Amino acid sequence: MEKIVVENSGKLNGRVRVSGAKNSTLPIIAASLLGTEDIILEEVPRLKDVEIICEVLRALGATVEDIDEHTIRINSSNLKTYETKFDLMNKMRASFLVMGPLLGRIGKAKCALPGGCTIGARPIDLHLKGFSALGVEYTEHYGDLESGEDSYILAHTEKLVGDKVYLDFPSVGATENIMMAAVLAKGRTIIENAAMEPEIVDLSNFLRKLGANIKGAGTNTIIIDGVEKLHGARHQIIPDRIEAGTFMVAAAITGGDVVVENVISDHLRPVISKLEEAGCEITEEEDNIHVKGPEELKCINIKTLPYPGFPTDMQAQFMAMMTQCDKTNIVMETVFENRFMHADEFNKMGADIKIKDRSAMVTGVSKLQGTDVRATDLRCGAALILAGLVAEGETHIHDIYHIERGYEDVIKKFSGLGAKIKRVEE
Ligand code: EPU
Repeated sequence: MEKIVVENSGKLNGRVRVSGAKNSTLPIIAASLLGTEDIILEEVPRLKDVEIICEVLRALGATVEDIDEHTIRINSSNLKTYETKFDLMNKMRASFLVMGPLLGRIGKAKCALPGGCTIGARPIDLHLKGFSALGVEYTEHYGDLESGEDSYILAHTEKLVGDKVYLDFPSVGATENIMMAAVLAKGRTIIENAAMEPEIVDLSNFLRKLGANIKGAGTNTIIIDGVEKLHGARHQIIPDRIEAGTFMVAAAITGGDVVVENVISDHLRPVISKLEEAGCEITEEEDNIHVKGPEELKCINIKTLPYPGFPTDMQAQFMAMMTQCDKTNIVMETVFENRFMHADEFNKMGADIKIKDRSAMVTGVSKLQGTDVRATDLRCGAALILAGLVAEGETHIHDIYHIERGYEDVIKKFSGLGAKIKRVEE
């Protein structure tokens, strides 16, 4: 087992290039099951989660090959089964995103039921509501946990038929799964109260290149007119706005001066705005964002919301920064019911964070002290690196596989900015 050790690093300075977005790559690779010719994807980040979804596709009969470090070729012309490999599915919730494409392409799917995770229960009722509206029948099978039996969903349809689907919450995954099923359905599907995240727009752009007929992605109403068949395409994944935001906070928390390259600033409006409120000087350049952190951070409040609101995936990193902001900062988490696990880890380092229901009160400025902490999930891991940059002594971050699921070359990128960070054997 390895851990990451971070030391107080002073001000971070320099330039760092952001990779392709994990949360675009995963649904786009799943959607590649829908095409019957070669698909070339560029700017694919080298991440554990991406490896897993590629394995899920291979196990279904698709070929997935590397062309170069960040380019892959997928061919799904000869799918051999509709049954997904449970051991792979259990490794990552996003594997469930193959269900929509399998139903569209084969009319059948057997997928492991994704369990809850540290950030919340994360049900899939909205995915299933959408599939049902399109004419899918399914049964849920609950295995005996003690004997290690799998729980799964078995779904089938004679023919998917478009319909109206209203999502009670604008779920990113449900919007994607329903979109992917609907592109090969008969007639029109309308998704109301759809998620509007940039990753939804990227998926829609990709599906349109394959020949799908989709309008409205990026708004709360998505209209999909089914087509007979999808072909191949070449597509470049958008930059990862959360990785970009993480490096922006690194500049802010250390009072540094960092140019974050390969960024679409429009995807980061709430992050830019809140960093400016905290006292950062931010300049938007063509594909870059230049962030200068202040000598003293001012207090701010954030409330996570679906896009275009403040992203829940930036909440932990901001909480790390708030430990260094003057006086009382409030965080409200409205997307996931249990996404405050990082607060305990910051408190171990000497932070003053109190949680009540879905709010956290962070009182700064705390003198953080390096100690042993645990990455309870991916964004918690990233936030602990940020806290470690300003803590006295060494911060030892355990369970770092979470970080590798979502941050490419994390050690190299932070070191390039002058961070004292290394990966060592436990
Ligand atoms: N929800 C339901 N029913 C459903 C689906 C979702 O109640 O059928 C609830 C969830 O329990 C949660 C809320 O809706 O409380 C939002 O969940 P959503 O479906 O939008 O999230 P997701 O698709 O499972 C994606 C990202 C997450 C990100 C969320 C929110 C991917 C692979 N994952 O998850 O990313 O936090 O959207 O923006 O795209 C991360 O990258 O660290 C990460 C967790």
